[in-house]
Amino acid sequence: MSRVALVTGGTRGIGAAISVALSKAGYKVAANYAGNDEKAKAFEAETGIAVFKWDVSSYQACVDGIAKVQEALGPVDILVNNAGITRDAMFHKMTPEQWGEVISTNLSGLFNMTHPLWGGMRDRSFGRVINISSINGQKGQMGQVNYSAAKAGDLGFTKALAQEGAAKNITVNAICPGYIATEMVRAIPEKVLAERILPQIPVGRLGEPEEIARIVVFLASDDAGFITGSTISANGGQFFV
Ligand SMILES: NC(=O)c1ccc[n+]([C@@H]2O[C@H](COP(=O)([O-])OP(=O)(O)OC[C@H]3O[C@@H](n4cnc5c(N)ncnc54)[C@H](OP(=O)(O)O)[C@@H]3O)[C@@H](O)[C@H]2O)c1
Repeated sequence: MSRVALVTGGTRGIGAAISVALSKAGYKVAANYAGNDEKAKAFEAETGIAVFKWDVSSYQACVDGIAKVQEALGPVDILVNNAGITRDAMFHKMTPEQWGEVISTNLSGLFNMTHPLWGGMRDRSFGRVINISSINGQKGQMGQVNYSAAKAGDLGFTKALAQEGAAKNITVNAICPGYIATEMVRAIPEKVLAERILPQIPVGRLGEPEEIARIVVFLASDDAGFITGSTISANGGQFFV
């Protein structure tokens, strides 16, 4: 029986690459998304991967959404917390709404998704939780106090929960991508990308979503059973912890 993997924000960008890679690796995959029905339906039609819509910033929506996934595919063994947003502004201009939306999605989303699945993983003595954090949670980034705080919080979440899961064969790890070629990054003006961002990346290019997806496939596998509480950086040499 193939294991079931649930990928939040799994219909676009890095998440879509993760969903496809896990599906190709033989997992039954459910891809969650927030509201872009058009992209989600196109993704489902193209890949055959089932899509499920709910907002990870709501605990109850996660409980209800997870129940639908488990009804359709079976118990979830692998959770990839990938859904994330940016609401960038310099701190002196940042609104409480911009702060709150990013913390609710990028940090509380991990609690909201992992907590309802945790009991089942403990009962079955197997689980993989893989959190997509960011280079900007490691080093901080001006204009992203909200995002950097949430993504740094994801790393604390990972390290603490890994200690709780270890005895039950549940691993919890984080990946910190650098700049990856997705819509989130393509929204950055071309001039800023060419003159300010690319010169900071020693390998001289953006990362590809598939390069993050391959790390997820490894962390999800039985081969990665001794890796827990880790943060894997994939940033083209831009930042070393
Ligand atoms: N791109 C980068 O360079 C980069 C670098 C470091 C870290 N990351 C992190 O990697 C992850 C994916 O980034 P990306 O660039 O692939 O993003 P993206 O292309 O903007 O896609 C985001 C995905 O997350 C979903 N989503 C957003 N808010 C959600 C919510 N509240 N509930 C459920 N789903 C939600 C979106 O659903 P809809 O399609 O419905 O909107 C979409 O599927 C994020 O956590 C991001 O912070 C990205």
